Amino acid sequence: MNVLLLGSGGREHAFAWKLSQSKLLTQLYIAPGNAGTSEIGINLPFAANDFAAIKQAIKQYSISLVLVGPEDPLVKGVHDFIASDKDIQHVPVIGPKQYAATLEGSKEFAKEFMIRHNIPTAAYFTATIDNIDESFSFLSKQKPPFVLKADGLAAGKGVLIIDDLETAKHELELMLRGKFGAASKKVVIEECLHGIEMSIFVLTDGKNYVILPEAKDYKRIGEGDTGLNTGGMGAVSPVPFCSPELLSNIEKTIIKPTVDGLYADGIEYCGFIFFGLMVSGNHAKVIEYNVRMGDPETEVVIPRIQSDLLELCLAAANKTLNNQTIQLDPRTATTVMLVSGGYPGDYENNKPITICSNNDESIVFHAGTKKIDNTVVTNGGRVIAVTSFGTNKNEALKKSYNTIKNITFEGMYFRKDIGFDL
Ligand code: AMP
Ligand code: GLY
Repeated sequence: MNVLLLGSGGREHAFAWKLSQSKLLTQLYIAPGNAGTSEIGINLPFAANDFAAIKQAIKQYSISLVLVGPEDPLVKGVHDFIASDKDIQHVPVIGPKQYAATLEGSKEFAKEFMIRHNIPTAAYFTATIDNIDESFSFLSKQKPPFVLKADGLAAGKGVLIIDDLETAKHELELMLRGKFGAASKKVVIEECLHGIEMSIFVLTDGKNYVILPEAKDYKRIGEGDTGLNTGGMGAVSPVPFCSPELLSNIEKTIIKPTVDGLYADGIEYCGFIFFGLMVSGNHAKVIEYNVRMGDPETEVVIPRIQSDLLELCLAAANKTLNNQTIQLDPRTATTVMLVSGGYPGDYENNKPITICSNNDESIVFHAGTKKIDNTVVTNGGRVIAVTSFGTNKNEALKKSYNTIKNITFEGMYFRKDIGFDL
């Protein structure tokens, strides 16, 4: 069968790498893809949210399954679009419809869902310009630091964590007055959770689910988790502190109630759910839901899956995930992200990348890259993710850092301390 994969990051290269190993795959198309995906399948030159071009490609290339990588097309309704067009509605989409994608698109929607289904999460209050006195009063009752979240998608910048109450009140008012545009017309004020963050992922058909490996990512640009937030600078899976007891509690109190809650609410869901968790001891609370896989978490989670990913996706589409089990590689996978100089601030694209061919120890996933003639150049802040396996994280990281010695581009930066806290 032919598959269309939407997206262009390291996550999509990891998906492409895995799908290409499936016996069920005939031809993989990626839109728009990157230099790495072009080695595995056929890149199509349109954006992941160009619905008209998606329809045209589904027809032209006889696509039998669409896998959506990033949240943007989902939140914009790509699944609804395909499902409601009589020419292409027979093609299953892995990724939820627009209403279900609101779990990521609106923090308030996600909090209301969690409260309704008794899923552990931080206490919260939704602030608007019309209830600002009550909002200040809720804020004043919280212990610092104060957590303010723009309700809508704000390119990963919509969460502020502020030590001082007066600054928090001031920032809250700025947000409500449009600091993040329409995304912060509502602001979710949250109790601050303490512990250590971890993520876990499932693939669900709306009723049944398979649990994918957990992972920990490193979001800050600087070593020791300092400096600005990024999309993610590296990841490790499995997470050493994720004991069988913690995992069982997460399934019982979070994963199952979430999937059951979607079903009970009549919210169809076919796709991945990303649970961002705060763990303390053997218990976890949900910080956020994402309606897709994480990046760079996918670059460690997907390589650890030994089962056929395309078979799992088809089972999700056919609502038969209850008949599937998932085989995992017990080894540790680590990934280290190579980024452009200046990222997450301003940076330049089109820097030629040299990759020596001696990289047998690692999988080199492309993120922000493209080909100009036959040269691979940088095309984004996060450029390449270097994934390796080991019997433990140190062994895996050693391989990733060795491979990085064979990769260069002007301004290249990476963190040398991925996994430092584990
Ligand atoms: P989010 O976009 O909701 O994932 O938030 C971004 C980051 O802010 C998270 O990865 C956490 O590091 C932090 N964060 C969000 N909510 C809380 C909370 N209630 N308590 C502590 N930290 C939080
Ligand atoms: N690495 C975090 C995310 O994909 O949102």
